Amino acid sequence: MDEPVSTPARLAVVVGGSGGVGGALARALVENPAYDQIVVLSRQRPAYCSAPESQGRLVWIAADILDEDSLAEAARRIGLLGAPALILIATGILHDERLTPEKTMRTLNAEALSRIFLVNAVGPALAAKHLLPLTPRDQPSVLAALSARVGSIGDNQLGGWYGYRASKAALNMLIHTLAIEHRRTRPLGICVALHPGTVDTALSAPFQGPGMAQRLFTPERSAAALLAVVDGLGPDANGGFYAWDGAPIPW
Ligand SMILES: NC(=O)c1ccc[n+]([C@@H]2O[C@H](COP(=O)([O-])OP(=O)(O)OC[C@H]3O[C@@H](n4cnc5c(N)ncnc54)[C@H](OP(=O)(O)O)[C@@H]3O)[C@@H](O)[C@H]2O)c1
Repeated sequence: MDEPVSTPARLAVVVGGSGGVGGALARALVENPAYDQIVVLSRQRPAYCSAPESQGRLVWIAADILDEDSLAEAARRIGLLGAPALILIATGILHDERLTPEKTMRTLNAEALSRIFLVNAVGPALAAKHLLPLTPRDQPSVLAALSARVGSIGDNQLGGWYGYRASKAALNMLIHTLAIEHRRTRPLGICVALHPGTVDTALSAPFQGPGMAQRLFTPERSAAALLAVVDGLGPDANGGFYAWDGAPIPW
């Protein structure tokens, strides 16, 4: 009898797996037989990473997207597991104890703008810097970073949310630029920015109004839609910005 041909393990990485959408993405991938192992990167270990039923398929690695040493160490450990075919970057902030989306230019301040740029644009770019070199050279791969429709300059009719909008526009440019460079060594590699819809998570909670109930996704619905978009990306999608339904979003 012939020896079975060994196929490389299919590996997926979720950066920001402690978040609402990131957690739903990781849990959906664990149920997907197309992947053998899911690596979750986050600052704290999410509870679902300790669930006994997922042991072996889920690997948690501590990483902070603003700490390059932690990203380099995470990349080293992921490299020992294999070459990731899918990298999802689901980190981001809109508000926290020191940050409130600006309604007017009068509230712009350097500290808040710098911080939101760091987390929403610089951090994902650094994560991509350390993780993209792990993707296979001769197999298809996708890196998708969660952006936001409000980061579209062409779609901005309402104004406000200066820092969040601008940081996501910066993220979009970083992803587009990474996509061009990545293609030079990975002809089958794809990098995209995705809008997950309006999703019921801690990030959106303070801004959910009664009128939003109709279009508010559960994290599970958003994750399923995003994974379907990722599955359907063709080679020409490289460097693009797409919504949860696969529709392109203007820059
Ligand atoms: N929810 C929506 O309606 C919506 C709409 C459009 C776009 N998005 C985008 O979708 C993405 C996911 O959002 P979400 O709704 O799932 O938000 P979330 O539940 O607040 O999750 C945000 C994630 O970002 C992580 N994070 C923040 N700073 C980090 C850092 N320095 N290092 C590592 N991780 C860090 C958080 O980790 P910790 O747990 O360690 O803080 C958490 O895992 C974000 O990029 C967001 O902008 C969301």
